[in-house]
Amino acid sequence: RPDIKNLKEEMEKQLPESTNSLLTDISRTAERADMRVYLIGGIVRDLFLERPNDDIDIVVEGNGIDFAEHLRTDYGGSVKMHETFGTASWIHPSGLYIDVTSARLEYYERPASLPDVELSTLSEDLYRRDFTINSMALCLNPEVFGDLVDPFNGQADLRSKTIKVLHNLSFIDDPTRILRAVRFETRFDFLMDKQTESLALNSMARMRDLSAHRIVEEMKRLFKDEDPPGTIKRLFKLTFWQQFGVDDGSAEQSYIHAGQLKMFYEIHKPPAGQKARWFNYFAIPFFTSKKMYLMSQFSLTKRNNKFLQDIRNLSDMEGVERIREPGEFHRFLKHYEDEAIIFMIAKENMENEDIITSYLKRRIDMPIFLTGEDLIREGMKPGPHFRGILLDLEVAVLNGEINSRDEAVEWLHENHMK
Ligand code: CTP
Repeated sequence: RPDIKNLKEEMEKQLPESTNSLLTDISRTAERADMRVYLIGGIVRDLFLERPNDDIDIVVEGNGIDFAEHLRTDYGGSVKMHETFGTASWIHPSGLYIDVTSARLEYYERPASLPDVELSTLSEDLYRRDFTINSMALCLNPEVFGDLVDPFNGQADLRSKTIKVLHNLSFIDDPTRILRAVRFETRFDFLMDKQTESLALNSMARMRDLSAHRIVEEMKRLFKDEDPPGTIKRLFKLTFWQQFGVDDGSAEQSYIHAGQLKMFYEIHKPPAGQKARWFNYFAIPFFTSKKMYLMSQFSLTKRNNKFLQDIRNLSDMEGVERIREPGEFHRFLKHYEDEAIIFMIAKENMENEDIITSYLKRRIDMPIFLTGEDLIREGMKPGPHFRGILLDLEVAVLNGEINSRDEAVEWLHENHMK
């Protein structure tokens, strides 16, 4: 396939109408302001891959803040400036954020990795980016609208499905890029080239210099993408987990556990919220190598902490595999969250999986037929034994033996008031 030189038609075909009309507006302003303006980053890559993306990132050869101001003058909205000099967001009247960055060099600190050869301002901006496939730009000025600027031949790497850094210090500049590389590999079914992979391996130790927060942010993205088991495996190969004390040998088991967890989510569609699922996948290698305590450094929310605590307790629990009625699980699991229970089921591959699943489903909307007050009203003397009675009642409800308040009262008299 010959190289594509202009993507105007592709833009018209693929981008939503609203995005196209915005780009036309930006194009007009570029002409009026007499500035060179480019569309840049993931959206350009995704046009080639024919994947939806309407994230508009703009780079200007000149002052980005000035250009954002021009946009505001022409079309309204507002401008928000950022700490880094030369970048701003234009907030479109519709509420959409459009990032505008300056490609003017003097604003930046020049990283060690920049080569001595002279690059145009735009090329130098592109050279600071992560991978060749993300370092392409499209001209937005009217006379050249849609022209591709691709100094590092990202187009060829897209074609050969290759993730390739632009220079040898890329991962040293920013180790999170290794995780981005893995994310793009799984998302697009690409692979790093040999050189990039060996740089990733050599720079992996740098991962330990990052804050837990940054790692967590990348993990959220990584485990949202298609293939969590594959991601876990790949990260073992690149020695990511090993940096944090996880044993080499737990790769296979972690992979299997993640596969079962994924299948469980797909088949049973458990009711629990999906929010923290990335965390559950992230926990697997630590769990498998019996190093959960090392995981706590990444546990940044109360919910995550409860999950860790729960699976620690659950892994010590005995006798659960012998249970045959949904309500009986309640005696063991009443105080545990769905996500932790599911994590353990996936690990154990339990025979009574279906029963435990129906327990989880039933307990979400378990009706409360009687409270302690009701017991007193029925003539019982209050005391700590109420707890046991109410638990027995819940168990019976979950087993489907009690279906109304009347039945609950009857049950109470039969079992506890004779
Ligand atoms: N970038 C980079 N190094 C990083 C993060 C980002 O060089 N650590 C660059 C990449 O060129 C990327 C651009 O900044 O294309 C925008 O970043 P982001 O929006 O995070 O990535 P996208 O490539 O748009 O990916 P996604 O589709 O996942 O949003």
